[in-house]
Amino acid sequence: MAANAFGTLFTVTTFGESHGPAIGCVVDGCPPGLAIAPEDFRADLDRRATGRSRHTSQRREADEVEILSGVYEGRTTGTPIGLLIRNTDARSKDYRELTETFRPGHADYTYWHKYGIRDPRGGGRSSARETTMRVAAAVIAKKWLAERYGVRVRGHLAQIGALVPRRFDWDAVEDNPFFWPDPDMVAELEGYVDALRKAGDSVGARVTVVADGVPVGWGEPVYGKLDAELASALMSINAVKGVEIGAGFAAVAQTGTQHRDEITPEGFLSNHAGGILGGIASGQPVVASIALKPTSSILVPGRSVNLAGEPVQVRTIGRHDPCVGIRATPIAEAMVALVLIDQALRHRAQCGDVGEVAPRVPGSRA
Ligand SMILES: Cc1cc2nc3c(=O)[nH]c(=O)nc-3n(C[C@H](O)[C@H](O)[C@H](O)COP(=O)(O)O)c2cc1C
Repeated sequence: MAANAFGTLFTVTTFGESHGPAIGCVVDGCPPGLAIAPEDFRADLDRRATGRSRHTSQRREADEVEILSGVYEGRTTGTPIGLLIRNTDARSKDYRELTETFRPGHADYTYWHKYGIRDPRGGGRSSARETTMRVAAAVIAKKWLAERYGVRVRGHLAQIGALVPRRFDWDAVEDNPFFWPDPDMVAELEGYVDALRKAGDSVGARVTVVADGVPVGWGEPVYGKLDAELASALMSINAVKGVEIGAGFAAVAQTGTQHRDEITPEGFLSNHAGGILGGIASGQPVVASIALKPTSSILVPGRSVNLAGEPVQVRTIGRHDPCVGIRATPIAEAMVALVLIDQALRHRAQCGDVGEVAPRVPGSRA
């Protein structure tokens, strides 16, 4: 079980390395009849892409998706969908020194010990380049979820370093390179990230994803809990060190009267549960947040060891993100969408005949 595959009924298997000839994935279990064209992938792949602003890595990949199988005359056929993206802007010479050392905070040391061999070019398989294929696979998931159930999955950056939005406007999120919901703070963020980059340092971030329109009932009661699967999927994103569902760790300081989401005939009075009760969607928005650590490949020298076990100073050159959280929003959305489509198909398989159950409070969907 090499664990490069994800999902139960809607499965995604990714392959490829940062500086190999291509990256790709196989999506299996997609319902037939969904209209999919190469242009469908453009928007989300551009949102995830590097080189989109001066605040992310300057690697410029075309990220053109080739659909190799599973789509006939523009519609999914129910057979495995093969997607391929060729790597066009890899600069492996930047990484020559890394064949001899281990970057502190990166996966170099652990890959070396696990496999006894590693591809150091751009981080190889541990590079966030792999997440491109998650975003591509999730384009299919998002489209099906929206068309079949009216589910919308969207995310935003919720914190960078100590900065938090002072006001919230979903409409602003796609208008700046940070996915930041407070348009009045964008100049402040630019100054902050510019100063970090100049100092050769990096910082952590928080991303929040909200899925609206998730019908009550999706999720499994014990081992396949919706929140457990979201946590696992989100934690599988590079550099993620924490996941919260709804109120998350803030629940520790809440009382029961504050936390429980009271139910009235007019609807739920709050959503501290993040739209999930007993592992099953409540019909409220599903809300999940992730904490991303600061980029470990930075210009400020740090101590490590070389292959001989001798002490060395590592200063990582190459093209890196000063804050990996800036590009993480579409990746987090992708993992939420992949979990939701998988749970939707599982719910349909077991409980598709249950039908409408009363009472249904507003805000919940069939
Ligand atoms: C969108 C995104 C971009 C990233 N870019 C970089 C980068 O430029 N340099 C770097 O050292 N790590 C980067 N990372 C993080 C590494 O991939 C990650 O820290 C590494 O694989 C070790 O895994 P871990 O942090 O999950 O333990 C990025 C992560 C994400 C999600």
